[in-house]
Amino acid sequence: MILITGASSGIGEACARIFALDPRTRGLILLARRKDRLEKLAKELRHKRTDFEVHVIELDVRRRKLVAGFAKANAKLLANANVLINSAGMAAGFDPIQQGKTEDWDATIDTNVKGLLYMTHIMLPHFLDKNDGHIVNLGSVAGYEVYPKGNIYCASKFAVRAINESLRMDLLGTKIRVSSVSPGMVETEFSRVRLGDKKKADAVYAGMTPLTGQDIAEAIHWCVRRPRHVNIQDMIIYPTDQASPTLVSRK
Ligand SMILES: NC(=O)c1ccc[n+]([C@@H]2O[C@H](COP(=O)([O-])OP(=O)(O)OC[C@H]3O[C@@H](n4cnc5c(N)ncnc54)[C@H](OP(=O)(O)O)[C@@H]3O)[C@@H](O)[C@H]2O)c1
Repeated sequence: MILITGASSGIGEACARIFALDPRTRGLILLARRKDRLEKLAKELRHKRTDFEVHVIELDVRRRKLVAGFAKANAKLLANANVLINSAGMAAGFDPIQQGKTEDWDATIDTNVKGLLYMTHIMLPHFLDKNDGHIVNLGSVAGYEVYPKGNIYCASKFAVRAINESLRMDLLGTKIRVSSVSPGMVETEFSRVRLGDKKKADAVYAGMTPLTGQDIAEAIHWCVRRPRHVNIQDMIIYPTDQASPTLVSRK
């Protein structure tokens, strides 16, 4: 059973589709705030396959007490999960720090860092019980290199990289795997959420070919389906038209 946060859009949604096509996947737990989207996706996946379960969970990963309550109420279901894909994430705002809005900083850090930690924290006891499990964190090239106005988002993804590497050390000696996939530009709802409107978001990808959610989901699927003794620590994936967070070739 695979638990995917941020399954209502973009990379998380693409992961749900890819893993649903894999006959080794026994079930999916799709988690996000927009339940209608998750229900629609679950319906589509249940049509494709009748031999697996799809569960829909409406949850805001920033809400520590709600996450803990969800874990307590669903302990049996979560005990069956052996993969956690932490895709829930976002960037709020695109301003220099001196003009930044503190509510944007809270939203970004609370989702990308604390939300990822809360979800990891509720799954680890189950993984440790079984001495089996795989955590896949969505990092970013922004976790390797900062760029102008990227500030707090970059800080959050540097933190994800630190958490990813720390988990590898803390879990050493167990059979629990921890991986990260760190993409460059992927065309999803990410830029619309960050910039607030579709026109501005479209301009981000103008004249270049970005990655798709499916490109990243395929990489995540590959990481997860390696044999148990193989741990992919991180995969940095750029579009061919991008060579660094700020170097983009546009025609
Ligand atoms: N797109 C890129 O260029 C890019 C590049 C590098 C890394 N990434 C990372 O990839 C991950 C996925 O992003 P994406 O590109 O797929 O963006 P997206 O299309 O906007 O998807 C983000 C997902 O996260 C969920 N989410 C956001 N806040 C949440 C919360 N508080 N609680 C639960 N779910 C929440 C959203 O669902 P709801 O709104 O329904 O809750 C949505 O399903 C993020 O961690 C992002 O930082 C993206």
